[in-house]
Amino acid sequence: MNILIAYATTEGQTRKICRFCADVLIDEGHSVELLDVGDDDGLDLGRFDAAILAASLHLGTFQKDMGEFAKTHGNGLAGLRTMFLSVSLAVASGEAKDLAELDRICGRFFDETGWRPDQLIHVAGAFRFTQYDFFKSLAMRWIAHQQGQDVDPTKDREYTDWQALRRAVLTLAGPAGSS
Ligand SMILES: Cc1cc2nc3c(=O)[nH]c(=O)nc-3n(C[C@H](O)[C@H](O)[C@H](O)COP(=O)(O)O)c2cc1C
Repeated sequence: MNILIAYATTEGQTRKICRFCADVLIDEGHSVELLDVGDDDGLDLGRFDAAILAASLHLGTFQKDMGEFAKTHGNGLAGLRTMFLSVSLAVASGEAKDLAELDRICGRFFDETGWRPDQLIHVAGAFRFTQYDFFKSLAMRWIAHQQGQDVDPTKDREYTDWQALRRAVLTLAGPAGSS
C-alpha cells in the first residue's frame, strides 16, 4: 500500500511517533510518505491507499494546521482507509473520565473539520521539559502534580507505549499484498 502519514507537532513527540509508524509500515513492505502538515503545498491524495493523520493536544485543542489540512483534504481522505492518532498526556492516566473527555475533544475536531477517520487511536505523548520555557515548565509541573505524577523537571519523560502503537498501526495496513 501507499500510505501517507501527515502530522502536526509542537514539541516533537508526534513527529517521533509518526517516524516510528513509518518504520513499522516500511518494515511490512509498504511505501510511506511522511508530511508535516505545515509543509502541505497542494498534495495529491489520489496516489495513496491509506492515510494516518496525527496531532497533539495543547490546552484541549489540536494544532490549527491539522484542522486546516483535514478540512482542505476532506474529499481525498474520504476515499482512503484512515486513522487519526490523537497524542495527549491525559490518555496516560487511564482514567475513564479522561478518556471520555478525549473522545469528546476528538468528536469536536471531527465535527469542525467535517472529516471522520475510520479509526481513532489515543496515543500517550511525553513531557518535554528540556524544550519548555520557564512558564510552560511551571504549567506542566502543575499538570503532572494534578495527575499524581512524580516528574523530574530537568528530564524529559515519555509515556508512549511503542508496542501498543505498533499493533494499532498494523490494523490499518497488514503486510504488503494482504489487501
Ligand atoms: C502547553 C501544553 C499544553 C498541553 N495541554 C494538554 C491538554 O490539554 N491535554 C492533554 O492531554 N495533554 C496536553 N499536553 C500534553 C501534550 O499533548 C504532550 O506533551 C504531547 O506529547 C505533545 O506532543 P508534541 O510534542 O507532538 O507537540 C500539553 C502540553 C503542553 C506543553
